[in-house]
Amino acid sequence: MVKLAVLGASGGIGQPLSLLLKLSPYLTELALYDIRLAKGVATDLSHINTTVKVSGYDKDDLKSALTGADLVVIPAGIPRKPGMTRDDLFKINAGIIKTLAQGVAQFAPKAMVLVISNPVNSTVPIFKQVLSDAGVFNARRLFGITTLDLVRAKTFVNGFEQYWKDLSEINVIGGHSGNTIVPILSKAASYAKLTAQQRDALIHRIQFGGDEVVKAKDGAGSATLSMAYSAYVFVERLLKAIKGETGIVEDTFIYLDSSIQGVKEVKSLISGGVEFISLPVRLSARGVEAVEFGILNELNQHEKELFNVATKELKVNIAKGITFVTGSK
Ligand code: NAI
Repeated sequence: MVKLAVLGASGGIGQPLSLLLKLSPYLTELALYDIRLAKGVATDLSHINTTVKVSGYDKDDLKSALTGADLVVIPAGIPRKPGMTRDDLFKINAGIIKTLAQGVAQFAPKAMVLVISNPVNSTVPIFKQVLSDAGVFNARRLFGITTLDLVRAKTFVNGFEQYWKDLSEINVIGGHSGNTIVPILSKAASYAKLTAQQRDALIHRIQFGGDEVVKAKDGAGSATLSMAYSAYVFVERLLKAIKGETGIVEDTFIYLDSSIQGVKEVKSLISGGVEFISLPVRLSARGVEAVEFGILNELNQHEKELFNVATKELKVNIAKGITFVTGSK
């Protein structure tokens, strides 16, 4: 029996993500919550003859949506408009995330929480701070969803160079906005064939791929379908790990708690005291099992430079999230 709650289920990401989750063989119950339309979306999905039971919850019924949830996935909040950065979303989404985190602390304190709402670099620290203040934080169970960055990287390397076959050798680490996104491509054999100009163009496209969607949608929103797909991939991988499958590694933005295997090594390899970061993480039934820190030893000089830029910006984004909670107590 696995219950998953989607908070922000009626939105551009929430609806296709809920549709994909309705097809999951690993779920028994899907609780859809939003400040609008959640019952409508739930009724619509409930007509699909898969075994997942779907229910919808209005604005005032966060408690019912969350009670008994094993996983909570959060795409609630406003998306970017042309000209906005993910950080511009902060003022509105920070408040939404804080409220939802208080709900999780109260009604589903043991759930695994997957935060999609941007800016992830700050919304995950907000979530952590609220859960810590409530005495229910467990670093193994809080994930910022950065999967789309790797999905884009795998797509763009192929679009860019027909010969790029070694996709398992590429990765994306750091944070989830602009310069904090650090594509790690140098381990792939195809990397050596790129000119510096091609390399820079490719890295820029991965870092700012979201802007292409924002521009193409002409003010109507940001990535929704590719994001729903990416979140679904992550959720399915996590559900497999919860069921006991071993060897599952996914990139995710986590709090670097020293009790987690690999975190001490990460901290010794990163200067500047960054407390949250996206890295490849081994998943298990308890969530984050270990951080695969080895990747930090494998960066080439150019990637090290990108990583240094990323961690400086990341630190500012993280502090902004924490201060939002601690300063408003
Ligand atoms: P949207 O505006 O289409 O949907 C957001 C939904 O959240 C709406 O249905 C809205 O009613 C709901 N909502 C607002 N306040 C709420 C609250 N307090 N409780 C519950 N629901 C609430 O936006 P979209 O396109 O679905 O994007 C959602 C978020 O995901 C944005 O912050 C966006 O920037 C982020 N995003 C994250 C990505 C990632 O890689 N992590 C990629 C793309 C978008």
